[in-house]
Amino acid sequence: SPAPLVDQFQRRITYLRLSVTDRCDLRCSYCMPERMTFLPRKEVLTLEELHDLALGFIARGITKIRLTGGEPLVRRDMIELVRALGRKIGDGLEELTLTTNATRLSEFADDLVAAGVRRVNVSLDTLDRETFTRLSRRDSLPQVLEGLQAAKEAGLKVKLNTVALKDINEREMPDLIAWAHGQGFDSTLIEVMPLGDVEEDRFDHYLPLVAVQEDLARRWTLTPSEHRTGGPARYWDVEETGGRIGLITPLTNNFCEGCNRIRVTATGQLYACLGGNERVDLRAALRSEDPEAELAAALDTAMRIKPERHHFAIEEPGAAPAVSRHMSMTGG
Ligand code: GTP
Ligand code: 5AD
Ligand code: SF4
Repeated sequence: SPAPLVDQFQRRITYLRLSVTDRCDLRCSYCMPERMTFLPRKEVLTLEELHDLALGFIARGITKIRLTGGEPLVRRDMIELVRALGRKIGDGLEELTLTTNATRLSEFADDLVAAGVRRVNVSLDTLDRETFTRLSRRDSLPQVLEGLQAAKEAGLKVKLNTVALKDINEREMPDLIAWAHGQGFDSTLIEVMPLGDVEEDRFDHYLPLVAVQEDLARRWTLTPSEHRTGGPARYWDVEETGGRIGLITPLTNNFCEGCNRIRVTATGQLYACLGGNERVDLRAALRSEDPEAELAAALDTAMRIKPERHHFAIEEPGAAPAVSRHMSMTGG
């Protein structure tokens, strides 16, 4: 059987983040500019190509696939891909999941569960409708809350992702976490990362999570949790709420040593690291005379070029982002 994916730092790669579209129905201001340019649709992989690609990865030892965007649920045939990949659960694939903004989750929650999805991560930065509208430039909080309710009713486990932003949702953090825990959701806080140009200077809203954690620890009893999902979050149990808080700290506490993941864009570009430009073109491999051999060679190259770590930093105002592509290209 084909060799497993191991990089030159002996990290075993088992987690694929596969973007199915770069488009999104929100315009979160830390993520993308108001007038975002999206890829021409003809550049994007077909459903069949995405499917073949995913199967190729499973054959090389990928056990967890997270479908991402942009917003994965804005792609029309997305649920068909979920159904097809769902059939691989228990046959090489251990977990199939997605990261979504939940604006369309109420429509798809039942279908996702039927296809084998057990858990979703939902981006939610605020429970205040005005703040939501200002931040995402769309008045979609009601749909998001409906989506979350539907996910809960369908029996999906939910982890909320909240980007911690100074002067925007900073003071709301404890309420947001308490609400999430009341709903039975995990709550993960994320440091904003310098990916792609946006109108604002991310420096102005960058909030190191050490400060937030200290504040939360004054309020609640936090103990390190054994909970692991194979992602970068480190979890804390909160005695008072009975829930869990995850912290994703790419800037203040690098977690690259244990990196187990790669990401593929909707056009089939494999990025070996979120924080780097090292990539290989899987679409060219898929569309070549000998897709199997070309794909194998491309994945071997990816393992050779995967860097040891990212070099994200937000240390001074006005600095250009470390990486020029937006998060919506690689789905985080
Ligand atoms: P779980 O399966 O629940 O562990 O998911 P996850 O945290 O891996 O995925 P999710 O899509 O919820 O990502 C949460 C945040 O973590 C996003 O902002 C991602 O960009 C970020 N993230 C995920 N992997 C990496 C990584 O390798 N490096 C960095 N810097 N950030 C990452
Ligand atoms: N820095 C940190 N997180 C970001 N996200 C989008 N852009 C950025 C950024 N520049 C988050 C979204 C979502 C996750 C996939 O990534 O809010 O929760
Ligand atoms: Fe869309 Fe997610 Fe970016 Fe917000 S963070 S604009 S929801 S891709």
